[in-house]
Amino acid sequence: MPKTRFLDQEFLDLELGKMFTRTWQIACRVEELPSVGCFVEYEIGRYSILVVRESKDSIRAYHNACRHRGTRLARGRGRVGSLICPFHGWRWNLDGSIKLVLDREEFVPRSDDDLGLGKVRAEQWAGFVFINMDPEAKPLLEYLDPIARIFEPFQIENFRIRWGKGVVMECNWKTALDAFLEAYHVAGTHPQLFRLDRTNDKIASLRELDIRPWAPTTVYERHAHYSALGPKSSASKDAGKDPSKRSGDGKSDERLSVANAVQYLHEDMGGLENERSWRAAEALKTSEVPEGMSAGQYFLQLYRELSIAEGYDWPVITPEQWTEAGSAWNVFPNSIILPGQGSVFWYRSRPVDNDPNKCLFEVFSLDQIPVADYDKKREFTPEYFDDYRDADMGQVFNQDFANMKEVTVGMHSPSFDGHRLSEEQEMTIWNHHRVADRYIWTD
Ligand code: FES
Ligand SMILES: [Fe+2]
Repeated sequence: MPKTRFLDQEFLDLELGKMFTRTWQIACRVEELPSVGCFVEYEIGRYSILVVRESKDSIRAYHNACRHRGTRLARGRGRVGSLICPFHGWRWNLDGSIKLVLDREEFVPRSDDDLGLGKVRAEQWAGFVFINMDPEAKPLLEYLDPIARIFEPFQIENFRIRWGKGVVMECNWKTALDAFLEAYHVAGTHPQLFRLDRTNDKIASLRELDIRPWAPTTVYERHAHYSALGPKSSASKDAGKDPSKRSGDGKSDERLSVANAVQYLHEDMGGLENERSWRAAEALKTSEVPEGMSAGQYFLQLYRELSIAEGYDWPVITPEQWTEAGSAWNVFPNSIILPGQGSVFWYRSRPVDNDPNKCLFEVFSLDQIPVADYDKKREFTPEYFDDYRDADMGQVFNQDFANMKEVTVGMHSPSFDGHRLSEEQEMTIWNHHRVADRYIWTD
């Protein structure tokens, strides 16, 4: 993988001009637009798009540019009655049609159509609002294949954002994304995950490496995923992901290993697990695990009982469905979704300041909500940080973030020519470039 694809301005220009203008990208969640008139700005490189709730049932997207002299109409997020240009005050209805041109009689006559906001495609899946600047693009659901089918049992449409944080990183937007597109780095970057004592993050010993996890990748026509299958020594690609199996240190009480893994994810990463699964894990520590059941299986039973008792639906996810879902998906081009029972992560990476060595990386933790709350609105504002060390995102994220600049500095070395990727565990990264080339080298 030539390093120019990460470091060169020319390549970023190609990505922005040919790929980001023609692919579906997650602009926001539906719940970020709770009321009519709410808008969220989605910036990608030099482009800015406004996603607007037009009515109870309709969300639309527009190019964020005044039809008069081009001024950007709105920033960030907010709620408006109509879209009003801050320069000379032209106004648009929420459906994008022109509402007011001051002194219109002074202008060459133009149709309302010509004065309407530039439309961007907006479609929804699982509570995510996607945009696409290409009017000819195929429908979102076709583009997402096979993700929409494989994620269906997880019912992410019934999830809402628990928290969202964005950090500016000194690396290419793909370097940040790639840090989460494989689990091959776990042994090197997150050695504490081998240990019951998670505060011990000393480099893994050779003996500990014997129980390193294995996470082979699978690529599809456009998207790709990896699947964490347990210790490499005993993992089989045919076995598939099993949420009742969790990595421990291989020698402690199985109940403690499982409970620790669950509780650490909730406490340290603030996602993939939640306050309910944390309590189920707590109960597991002192439970008698029934005959014929593993601690992991019994944990899932406790989590299920607790969830149902507290008014949550419990989506049934079969072993075959877990196997297909795996651990993390690149939703091409710039998002990652980690499927989970009751909690999922969504990551997104975007270039910043037209600089190939700078990006904004965002993490959103989403939780399933009680059935009674499905129609309730909720407030949500993401937080942004110029330095990840101020973002308080825990040990695991900080370890991942620390790598990103180092990768970039090293890539600039004249001795380094390009990535050398594992053909089993890093094909998600390779796939991204393979698919990008389809957009970049065609008109
Ligand atoms: S530039 Fe927007 S009204 Fe003039
Ligand atoms: Fe990591």
